[in-house]
Amino acid sequence: YWGLKTKSIGKKIEHYDQIESTQTLAIKRAQEGCDEGLVIIAEKQIAGRGRRARHWDSNHDKGVWLSLVLRPDIMPIQSPQLTLLTATVLLDVIEEITQLKPEVKWPNDILINGKKVAGILTQAQAEHDQVHYAVIGIGLNVNQEKSELTDPIKHSATSLQIETSKSYSKQLVIQTILNRFEEVYFNYLKDGFKSIKTKWLKSAYRLGERLEYSINGEVKSGVFIDLSDDGCLIIENDDRQQEKLYTAKIHWF
Ligand code: BTN
Repeated sequence: YWGLKTKSIGKKIEHYDQIESTQTLAIKRAQEGCDEGLVIIAEKQIAGRGRRARHWDSNHDKGVWLSLVLRPDIMPIQSPQLTLLTATVLLDVIEEITQLKPEVKWPNDILINGKKVAGILTQAQAEHDQVHYAVIGIGLNVNQEKSELTDPIKHSATSLQIETSKSYSKQLVIQTILNRFEEVYFNYLKDGFKSIKTKWLKSAYRLGERLEYSINGEVKSGVFIDLSDDGCLIIENDDRQQEKLYTAKIHWF
């Protein structure tokens, strides 16, 4: 990775042709005590994982599948900020590479023209009210053709290639992500979450619009008005009261 300008992110890289999941291995390395900045990259994942124990379609070499290990000096409640931070990195990188304007759909999906092009999986481990490690998994669909998308994501997913009719060097995409990540991450550790939140909101999918959500089986609706510092959606409900949504099931119109 000759184009890497980073001091810590990607200083050590493990690159595999084929592996179960970069995420699983990165968590193992983190538990073994690896340094911050370790990046695990795979050409193919046999058992790629998404959020909520879902499968992530990555048993082919058309995308960027990587996980990175961080050891930030933050409190556990702040760890969702890392997902939002990563989202802003991906927004920048995709825009830089494709000239398109992607959006971010809470909590962790990156969309182009309303379809999912990337997902983020953050898994943090706390010790004594301090984050001991956080592993950030990034899956970015790069060179898939439309015919290569399979069920169930066929109609809801996309790739950089599908959106621009161009193919991309994965090495270049990875370098761009890691360089940008380090810049944004170091800034975050120094100056906090504020600028990330501002940036995130600028590209937020359906900000200011009404959405439907269910909490404990009860269906409600309200307007998505803001993002909280701990990574929740802030909704104004029909009684003009503000509610914070942590993990509510949301139906996006
Ligand atoms: C999601 O949208 O549900 C998150 C998807 C995260 C996928 C990436 S690919 C690299 C890393 N390894 C995994 O097994 N998952 C993440």
